Amino acid sequence: ATRVAAAKSLLGFEAIPALTLDKVTVPAGYTTQTLLPWGTPLLPGAADFKTDASDSAAEQALQVGSHHDGMHFFPIDLPAGGNSSAEGLLVMNHEYCDPDLLHTQGALGLPRPLAQVEKELAAHGVSVAHIKLDDAGQWQLVRNSRFNRRITGTTKMDIAGPLRGHICMQTAFSPEGISARGTLNNCSMGVTPWGTYLTCEENWADCFINRDTDIPRSHYRYGIRADNSKYHWHTAQPQADIVRRFDATATADTAMQDYRNEPHQFGWMVEIDPFNPDSTPRKHTALGRFAHEGIIFHKAVEGQPLVAYSGDDSRFEYIYKFVSREAYFQASAGPHLLENGTLYVAVFHDDGRGEWRALDINNTEFQQRAAQAGVTFADQADVLLNTRLAADVMGATKMDRPEWGAVHPHSGEVYFTLTNNDKRRSDETDAVNPRARNQYGHIIRWREQGLPQAQHFAWDVFWFGGPAGTAQPQHKTTTSAASEIACPDGLWFDADGRLWIQTDISNSSALLGSAAFGHNGMYAADPSTGELRRFLSGPNGCEVTGVVSTPDQTTLFVNIQHPGEGSTPTNFTSHWPDGGRSRPRSATVAIRRINGKKIGA
Ligand code: FEO
Ligand code: CA
Ligand code: CA
Ligand code: CA
Repeated sequence: ATRVAAAKSLLGFEAIPALTLDKVTVPAGYTTQTLLPWGTPLLPGAADFKTDASDSAAEQALQVGSHHDGMHFFPIDLPAGGNSSAEGLLVMNHEYCDPDLLHTQGALGLPRPLAQVEKELAAHGVSVAHIKLDDAGQWQLVRNSRFNRRITGTTKMDIAGPLRGHICMQTAFSPEGISARGTLNNCSMGVTPWGTYLTCEENWADCFINRDTDIPRSHYRYGIRADNSKYHWHTAQPQADIVRRFDATATADTAMQDYRNEPHQFGWMVEIDPFNPDSTPRKHTALGRFAHEGIIFHKAVEGQPLVAYSGDDSRFEYIYKFVSREAYFQASAGPHLLENGTLYVAVFHDDGRGEWRALDINNTEFQQRAAQAGVTFADQADVLLNTRLAADVMGATKMDRPEWGAVHPHSGEVYFTLTNNDKRRSDETDAVNPRARNQYGHIIRWREQGLPQAQHFAWDVFWFGGPAGTAQPQHKTTTSAASEIACPDGLWFDADGRLWIQTDISNSSALLGSAAFGHNGMYAADPSTGELRRFLSGPNGCEVTGVVSTPDQTTLFVNIQHPGEGSTPTNFTSHWPDGGRSRPRSATVAIRRINGKKIGA
């Protein structure tokens, strides 16, 4: 009887223990291959990576960027209808950079040298890499493929949706307010039903400063302050327009003469067509402006609107849902579906029910609540520019840092990670964020009442992070040694409904490297039984983020971000992946099975 039960489980691998090794560990019977580490030459004429990090900004712009995050594998014969598991475009985000590792001598002091800043902008963004499985079962970059591409913090983009051409988007660079420069802090991602990639702008606000005595709400509510700059890019010498724009202080008479509208170019969902290397990326403003972690779609249904979710990853921020105005039809599907629609924000009631409240200036309830709060919006574009404020007005539920979401491929249930929130006080808890000083995080799920575009849902907590013994009331069980998990972040369903969960315990947390949790890693869960097991453990100082398989599920791609975080230019705390005394580099890991079967099964 035990054997029959075991055979029904979605999880067919032996859990690995919590580990603190400077390497990637996977279960017995699995192999790993590292590919596309930061600095890999990607475009024609690209230089080989220099191990002392002496590559210039121009060289970096032709190489794979740093700090790999969300990614997707597009089989090479899509969208024409194929399904290759041996050749495709691996598209990945490069969330940020660590100047102490990006430059030979680390970050030089203030003012920042322009050459360093230009390299930092070039290390951000997205890579499109054409890869192919060789006869030995190894993935290889197809050098000289016309699809290989870098998108960086300076690439020209189009503004799409309600903010296109809006007065708040006008800059000297684009007096018509229709284009922007670069994408930054691209965390997780999404894939549209028509086979394009969405990259999500998360912690972009940290790149700006504003020294105005009265900072506009479209800056302040996102965290822009006089002294908040993560990289001090605006100080760069010699001065250049491409970096001066990170000082958003209103210094001149008009927005065309200073950079007050530059922060309005960020916080969006950016669409990239990986199959058209000459295409201009589009910033889709109808999906709202916040610290977008990622985006996840319900399965598109002919004749129905498209429905997608996105979390705002900051303490006490919200979960959003977008419903397209136009119906989806496969034959005509495209970016227009993301240009008009309704953006909703989630309210989780303590009784297990929930509702979506529209952020729509033409909606009576929205108008009433805004009036009660004494908040005015000029038009719908102003609502979207100030999405966080609009959601405040609607009484949205303040969450414990919403990270990735995933939609179950069969049931359509939506799962979301709430990574942690150590600032929630005991008098601020509610049923969906029930723990004060939530250091372990949890995973919630909901089911829409009817069609995906419904305005009501039912929710519960799928998993509570924590050490062995933590109660899991929804499964009538407790956490075991194999299922000890903290700070869930990356989340993805494979085609069988196996839920993959990746962790991001901060290097500043005592949980990282502890006996219970070890290094950050990846786990798989069977949502129907609540079984959960550790599958992968990462190297020193990393987080594990970004996961996708080939269509046949025989290769699983996973990203290792910021191995050796906390290193100095002369003392590396990890030497992954190159070993010896090498400089640590973010990289992708391709996981396969010795028997060639499906990963995780
Ligand atoms: Fe970039 Fe919320 O993780
Ligand atoms: Ca994340
Ligand atoms: Ca992190
Ligand atoms: Ca995180």
